[in-house]
Amino acid sequence: MTHLVILGAAGDLTSRYLIPALAELDAAGALPDALTVTGVDRRPWDDDEFRQHLADRVHPTPLLSRLHYHRGDVTDAAALRDALGRSEAPAVVYLALPPHVFSAAVQALGAVPPAPGSRIVIEKPFGDDLDSARQLNTLVHEVVAEEDVFRVDHFLGKQTVQNILGLRFANRIFEAVWNTQHIESVDIVWDETLALEGRAGYYDAAGALRDMIQNHLLQLLCLLAMEPPVTLSERALRDRKVDVLRAVRRFSLDDVRRDTVRARYRSGGTAVPDYTDEPGVDPGRGTETFAAVTLYVDNWRWAGVPFTLRSGKALDADRHEIRVRFRPVPHLAFDQDTDPEPNHLRLRVGPDQLALEVNLNGAGDPFQLERARMTADLAPQALSAYARLLLDIFEGDPILSIRSDEAEEAWRIIEPIRDGWRKGTTPLREYRAGSSGPDDNRPR
Ligand code: BG6
Repeated sequence: MTHLVILGAAGDLTSRYLIPALAELDAAGALPDALTVTGVDRRPWDDDEFRQHLADRVHPTPLLSRLHYHRGDVTDAAALRDALGRSEAPAVVYLALPPHVFSAAVQALGAVPPAPGSRIVIEKPFGDDLDSARQLNTLVHEVVAEEDVFRVDHFLGKQTVQNILGLRFANRIFEAVWNTQHIESVDIVWDETLALEGRAGYYDAAGALRDMIQNHLLQLLCLLAMEPPVTLSERALRDRKVDVLRAVRRFSLDDVRRDTVRARYRSGGTAVPDYTDEPGVDPGRGTETFAAVTLYVDNWRWAGVPFTLRSGKALDADRHEIRVRFRPVPHLAFDQDTDPEPNHLRLRVGPDQLALEVNLNGAGDPFQLERARMTADLAPQALSAYARLLLDIFEGDPILSIRSDEAEEAWRIIEPIRDGWRKGTTPLREYRAGSSGPDDNRPR
């Protein structure tokens, strides 16, 4: 592929993630030699102004000279035809757009249409419910085949997330205990100190449930809970991931009431204002900036094990972590007043670290137990997540992208929660910005 067309070239995603990732690949000599990048947007720029806008994101690589700009409406077929040029060669078309423009842009693209073999890349969230995800899939499939659709979830480009596969499937010791017999619960936590950062236009319509849980955290769940794939081909891996989503128990209204938490931050007296005072926020929407959901994977391996997925903004610390809590030993011969904590396995992102907590004989009295923590620092990310994903897109390998059925199954899980919340199952609590979240931040 030698032509990348970015729709939404003046936007935040392009300048914050895509261009730096391209610059990173350029510096590593990993970009296709003849690659040119055409940005499309409505701003009245020419090539030079576009390059100036991005200059501080690409220094010191020569990427700038590959960048071109085409002024136009991304929902207008004529504009897209001009941007794609007359070449018969397939192109990669990246929809770096607000979600409400996806359908119109794909329709316009269908009217062009791009050369056979072209690829379409779509950012999350893919649709905003099951119906719209299905409709978007249908539209996209009218333009390119599924193998040429790359639905981006940048968490899959994180090295430590990929390490879940190595940890589980290249070691004998973990897989043997990776089931309901030995695991009591799993927490998948993505707490952020970042607040809204001027993203109300997108975030206020999404909220934490759809911004983080529907995609990123469910992807982590898939990797943690999937059966061993026969190979690491995209088909084998993604089949096993979809199996997990299909096995997630559908939430009834009672489940939503009992097993979910939603909350929104107010100012904690720091620089962060109340969420509802952030520019562009409509307080009437009742958007949550914190969500926690406990779900169950109803299959032989996981029956009865609660998986809690949690993410919030404007919290006191960045906690990006998977915690696997094992069951207590069946019989404790040690004479202690309190039972020791069971084993925990923790996988942290930023700093990336794997830790196993075990109980050992104590130093003084050998029959008193002590807690020991075995840690391994994991290699820092070699390529940023977006660079990793772009490389796969250029190579045409969809293993790290979301398949159409995966996107739909994820909505099947989330939709009843959102519907329950709309029906008032779950009060919108408040928490102070800079705190650890609402008082009782675990479901139940
Ligand atoms: C994005 C969400 O997809 O992921 C953001 O829209 C969130 O709200 C971000 O902050 C978290 O990803 P990372 O890689 O920055 O931790």
